[in-house]
Amino acid sequence: MAKSYKIAVIPGDGTGPEVVREGVKVLEAASGKFGFKLEKQEFDFGGERYKRTGETLPDSAIDEMRAFDAIYLGAIGHPDVKPGILEKGILLKLRFGLDQYINLRPVKLYPGVETPLRNKGPEDIDYVVVRENTGGLYTGTGGISMKGTPHEVAVQSMVYNRFQVDRCLRYAFEYTKKRNRKKTLALCGKTNVLTFAYDLWERAFNEMGEKEYPDITREYYHVDATCMWMVKNPEWFDVIVTGNMFGDIITDLGAITQGGMGIAAGGNLNPEGVSMFEPIGGSAPKYTGKNVINPLAAIAAGQMMLESLGEEDAAEAVEDAMVKALQKDIKSLSAGKMGMGTSDVGDLLVKYILED
Ligand code: IPM
Ligand code: MN
Repeated sequence: MAKSYKIAVIPGDGTGPEVVREGVKVLEAASGKFGFKLEKQEFDFGGERYKRTGETLPDSAIDEMRAFDAIYLGAIGHPDVKPGILEKGILLKLRFGLDQYINLRPVKLYPGVETPLRNKGPEDIDYVVVRENTGGLYTGTGGISMKGTPHEVAVQSMVYNRFQVDRCLRYAFEYTKKRNRKKTLALCGKTNVLTFAYDLWERAFNEMGEKEYPDITREYYHVDATCMWMVKNPEWFDVIVTGNMFGDIITDLGAITQGGMGIAAGGNLNPEGVSMFEPIGGSAPKYTGKNVINPLAAIAAGQMMLESLGEEDAAEAVEDAMVKALQKDIKSLSAGKMGMGTSDVGDLLVKYILED
């Protein structure tokens, strides 16, 4: 009997539904070709539902998600909803609730894609950021007191425990080993200022590396220097591991060097549980419903999902189709400048997958 995977699909807000539609189209083509099934169930979490019902993500949804093999997410964010409500109430709630402690973000420049980095090409820009995804400033303690007075105090603290740091580092070391390229893992921190949080990271990094991964070369960069080298010498990097906040920031920088939000994808991974895959750009409300948004980031997220489900041939076929389309057909990654519509991109990739 054909293998079958249960996929929760959350199209979300803005252009999310449009890009997810193309992603699903491409996933269906790959599953048909490689002989497995995708049983999809759609969920309407997002800004519209929140406006209608006042509900972001019911607690029961977290439990419901546990029954799936993976989650495929479009975008969360609505222009009429105050920033923070949907992000915290849906996206982060899913990440934390399902303990998706790794945010895996490949920074890979495909042939035919323009990068703002002068004199750099696909051979120079090909590394992966392993971002810790459930701790740090995102879940640290904090609060505001004496709000609105001249003595107002705001606290938001970067909290990490050894367990969180160790499991993230272990994933990063294993990933570097499996990737088998330069076998170099770089820790991105700030040990010259954050002498508590990143001291813990650095000690744990060195202890684990020395004892358990002697074949992996260890490097260390402060976060500010990391940004500089990601621009000047991206070819230095193989795998970068870092905390939640720094990971958030450097992966936007990484994304723009690989062609921008039209192509950058990420996986929120719980290696022992349910993982969620998403394009890392936002909901791009101004392009909603216009058939101009680039669905490649969502398609790349789908490709990562296939890989994580163990359907590696299908994942490779999707990637090959993307590369072909980028080299031959897609003029630019920017919305409205692709030389074709959103749905044409999906159709084209389906064609390439099936004819190959
Ligand atoms: C990302 C996003 C999110 C984050 C926001 C939307 C909460 O920027 O996935 O990088 O900060 O993690
Ligand atoms: Mn971000």
